[in-house]
Formats: sequence, structure tokens, C-alpha cells
Amino acid sequence: MNKKTIKDVDLKGKKVFVRCDFNVPMDENQNITNNTRIVAALPTIQYLLEQNCKIILSSHLGRPKGEFKQEFSLKPVAKELSKLLGKPVIMAEDVIGEDAMQKAQNLKEGEILLLENVRFHNEETENDPEFSKKLASMAELFVNDAFGTAHRAHSSTTGIAEYLPAVSGFLMEKEIQFLGNAIENPERPFIAILGGAKVSDKIGVIENLLDKVDTLLIGGGMAYTFIKAQGYEVGNSICELDKLELANHLIEKAKEKGVKLLLPIDTKIAKEATEDTESKTVKCTEIPADWEGFDVGEETIEKFKEEIKKAKTIVWNGPLGLFEVNQFAIGTNEIAKAVAEADATTIVGGGDSISAIKKAGVQDKITHISTGGGASLEFLEGKKLPGIEALMDKN
Ligand code: 3PG
Repeated sequence: MNKKTIKDVDLKGKKVFVRCDFNVPMDENQNITNNTRIVAALPTIQYLLEQNCKIILSSHLGRPKGEFKQEFSLKPVAKELSKLLGKPVIMAEDVIGEDAMQKAQNLKEGEILLLENVRFHNEETENDPEFSKKLASMAELFVNDAFGTAHRAHSSTTGIAEYLPAVSGFLMEKEIQFLGNAIENPERPFIAILGGAKVSDKIGVIENLLDKVDTLLIGGGMAYTFIKAQGYEVGNSICELDKLELANHLIEKAKEKGVKLLLPIDTKIAKEATEDTESKTVKCTEIPADWEGFDVGEETIEKFKEEIKKAKTIVWNGPLGLFEVNQFAIGTNEIAKAVAEADATTIVGGGDSISAIKKAGVQDKITHISTGGGASLEFLEGKKLPGIEALMDKN
């Protein structure tokens, strides 16, 4: 990576502003239901503690649209972080108000302050220079460890870097290294597995990956658009009729590039997406009119597994079926296990694929689980992420 990291600067006793992505899922009682992103931020925070830094942490949570809303408060994150670190985390009542400014000013070496949800101000998403300046005024150095938000050009991710020296944290560095290596320098065969409901969400990723991979496996709802594009009926299956031409263009591009593009051969169909509704497996070329495809079938799973076994680098994003309903989660779960067992560098991104990996209990066998949803997709699309671009170059 050609960007400076916290290892490249003198941090001793400095006051640092650290942007994290603590945008974690919570239930209706504001209990955190998955703390992965908080755990992933610990190495950077622990390193800054070893350097006796005064640590100011900032994050967004959800999309509160510029006003204080209790359900978007970062207080539960402060509690969880304090538990994980085994030390107090001071919580600010606001972002750039009197309380935050006072607490930031009084911070001592080895103390941690968490500011309130930075999106309680519209200026954050507007990347307002005055707001960025105010955030910057709290510290001497900016550390961006929020890979999950690196695709947003906001005040706390890019604007602040106009006013402070900006370096990456360990999580940001790790994400760039793994995703970057996979894209630029993969050990081959390099396979991408893409799922999810819509082709339109993944066009950029497919286009870019077709220049990089040896094999592309497509599953999930978006597969039906490809199947329809090839002239087959898909019944009531999810299908983007305005993307048929595009799907054919992608199939053609794969041929031109010599990429093996595999679509599902068979599919598990039902009349509704419920747990105990009647379901059966049919060929993808024979989906009856009033039925809907919800998962890949056994033949597809076996075919995909064969390809996965041969791979040396695997990138997986998106479920292969309607993963929320158990009877349609088989394809996704089987692929999760196959990816985990592969003798390859394995990189998984996207909430559902990560949940499948966890559900299968194989997270320890995955080389890298990305904390970025939209950010990792944009990275795989080959886009430059503003949160990374804003950091200081090594030279
Ligand atoms: C995410 O969860 O993908 C990141 O935290 C970014 O959130 P956003 O899409 O609301 O910017």
C-alpha cells in the first residue's frame, strides 16, 4: 500500500482523531447484535494506547439525517468497546458541541473519548469545510480506520484530512492489502462468486472482475436475469427485464476474455418464500410459469464446489439464494463450507455471505472477512475510494 499508516508517524503522546466504522447492527432495544466492526477496530486502538496517545474516536451509526435521534446514539458502542478493551471509554454527549470539545481538550494520555454519531450533523455528509475544520481542531493527527465508510467523501472521512496529517489504521491497511492483492496480484486460478438479488447492484463489479478472474460463478436472484437473457422463462423469479441486454453483454465479454462464467444449472423453486411451503428442484431451463426460484439446486452446488476446489484465490460477495429462509439457505451454506475448506486465499464481503460463514461456524478458516459492504464492492469495481485517496502518500 502506498499510503502512510500509523506505523509511519511519530505518535507518542499525541492527540489523535480516529475515524472508525462502528455502524453495527442493533435490535430494537439497542443491543448490538454483531460486534465484528468494533472488534476489528481494536488493534489500532490498542496500538495507539501503547503509544500513550489521547484517543478521540468518531463514527456514524445508521442514517439519522442530520438530527439527534436516541436510537442512533453511539452509547451502546462505547459500552461494548469498554468491555472489549477492559478500560473506560468516555462518551461525549455531542459531536462538536461544548461537551465534546471540553472532553477532547481535557483528555489525558491513554484515555479514550468517543464522540456522538457524526451524522447527527448534516455537515458531515455534505463534507462541509467548517465542520471538517472543527473536527480537526480537536487533534494533531487523523487516523482513518473506517474501511467500511471509505467510499463516502464525508467530513470525518476525507474533509478532515485537509486540515490534519492523515494516515491509515491497521484495519484500513489490512483491507486494502487483501482486496488489493486479490485484484492486482492473485494466485491463480482466481475465482469470484457473486450472488445477491440484483444484477444492477453488481454491474460494475462483474465488469471489472471479468478483466481479472479465471472463473466467475453467478448465483442468487441475479442469476435469473442471466437465464432469461439467454431465452429461457423464469416464472415468477426475480428478474430485471431492463438488464437483459446487459446480461448478454457480460456473457459475451466473459467469452471474449476467456473467463469461464458459470450460471446455475438447476434451482429450488416454490410458490412463496416461506419455511414450510412446498418446494422442488428443476432445471433452470424449465421453471414453470407460476413458480419462483429461491436457491441453487444440488447439481449447481456440486458444479460450483468443483470450481472452488481448484481455486487459489477466491472472492465471494452475496448469497446464492434467499438465505433468510432456511429451506432456501442450502446453496449459500454449502458454498460457505466449500470456500472455507478450499486451499486458497479466501476473501468474503457483504453482510449475508458473512452471516453464512458465521452460521456455518467457519469464520476462522476464511483468510479475510471484509468489514466493508458498499466499500468492498466499490473497491472490487476498481473505483478509487475517497477515504483512502485522502491519506498521505508514503513518499
Ligand atoms: C456500511 O454499513 O456499509 C457503512 O457503514 C456505510 O454506511 P452508509 O451506506 O450509510 O454510508
